[in-house]
Amino acid sequence: MCARIVVATTDIVAFIHSKGGVGKSTLTLFTALALVERGLTVQVLDADPQASLAHWSHAADRAGEPLAVHIGSTPSPRFLHEAVTAAREAEADVVLIDTPPGTPDVLDAAVTVIDLALVPTAASPMDIDRVWPTLDLLAGIPTAVVLNALDAREAAATVAKSTLESAGVTVADTTIPMRASVRRAFGTNPTPVPAVYRELADEIQEAVS
Ligand SMILES: Nc1ncnc2c1ncn2[C@@H]1O[C@H](COP(=O)(O)OP(=O)(O)OP(=O)(O)O)[C@@H](O)[C@H]1O
Ligand SMILES: [Mg+2]
Repeated sequence: MCARIVVATTDIVAFIHSKGGVGKSTLTLFTALALVERGLTVQVLDADPQASLAHWSHAADRAGEPLAVHIGSTPSPRFLHEAVTAAREAEADVVLIDTPPGTPDVLDAAVTVIDLALVPTAASPMDIDRVWPTLDLLAGIPTAVVLNALDAREAAATVAKSTLESAGVTVADTTIPMRASVRRAFGTNPTPVPAVYRELADEIQEAVS
């Protein structure tokens, strides 16, 4: 029997935060679409039993504007491992994993396969305080915090960035503003994606290369 030799590398990136509603699913999809627009082969794995991205994809299909990326459902550790292995064998360029809030089994499984963890958070002092348990969970894994859904009028992002960086935490240079168009995007194929998600995709590619 001849073993298959896989030459290309598949970068495995997950959006992770034990806190709910911080933008994991939205960032997963918009970043995936930005990478697809760049011509990369991207697989999205929806590892959240809430299935936000699977529902988004079905709604977009029903609306006649299917997403430009396939959403695979992997709501159990076994499915997640199988899907990551399949993506590697298919020589996908990038796998983006949307994880559930809390710390269920699937999150434990995700941290064993990822090359890069991205932790989305709002920028208030209370939001930053909630980030530490997730950063502890990710100890030893390349990780960056992504400041998300920022109100342009507040200066909290600068304070948050310096608080995190002074504790040795990497913070993505790209910060994502609060946008009504993003909030309304569920069930649509939001392409071309806003430039800010393309900038985040650049940073992700740089971080995993
Ligand atoms: N940049 C943004 N501007 C405005 N609204 C946003 C932005 N990013 C996310 N949202 C909104 O914030 C809410 C939470 O986002 P999302 O569902 O992506 O978070 P989540 O972390 O995946 O949540 P959960 O933990 O429940 O899975 C949604 O209503 C979404 O539309
Ligand atoms: Mg989600």
